[in-house]
Amino acid sequence: MPKPIYILNGPNLNLLGKREPDIYGTTSLAELEALSIARAKTGGFSVVFRQTNREGEIVEWLHEARDNGAAVVINAAGYSHTSVAIHDALKAVDLPVVEVHLSNVHRREAFRHHSYVSAAADGVIIGLGPHGYELAVDAAVALVKTRNTA
Ligand code: DQA
Repeated sequence: MPKPIYILNGPNLNLLGKREPDIYGTTSLAELEALSIARAKTGGFSVVFRQTNREGEIVEWLHEARDNGAAVVINAAGYSHTSVAIHDALKAVDLPVVEVHLSNVHRREAFRHHSYVSAAADGVIIGLGPHGYELAVDAAVALVKTRNTA
């Protein structure tokens, strides 16, 4: 059995479906989780899917993924634009990393145009809504196979 893909979600994403639906859509986090699990299963992988509103918890989960995971898919939400600690943890994780954002952050406020996560990620998927999570899982599966991290 290959190791799972860790899909980590940052602050306020627990409110998906209710929060600013004009920007983030009406899909809930539970629905995103179901989509991600189904997509990973197609590629032969399981998923650890988590959300937190706390920066340090993301850091700790990345340390856990380092030991127990095959790859990381991360939507660090607001922390993407602020967190050196998450950047450093991603650099330490030594696994394929795919960053995902539901909204097209480059069409939004200037403070969203820089991500500390991007500089530590293998690839970035932005602005495709829930489908972006499916694409991120596909990318993670492909990278795991190339880099033999399963
Ligand atoms: C987000 C974009 C971030 O700028 C924002 O802070 C979020 C969600 C996205 O998925 O579009 O909370 O990461």
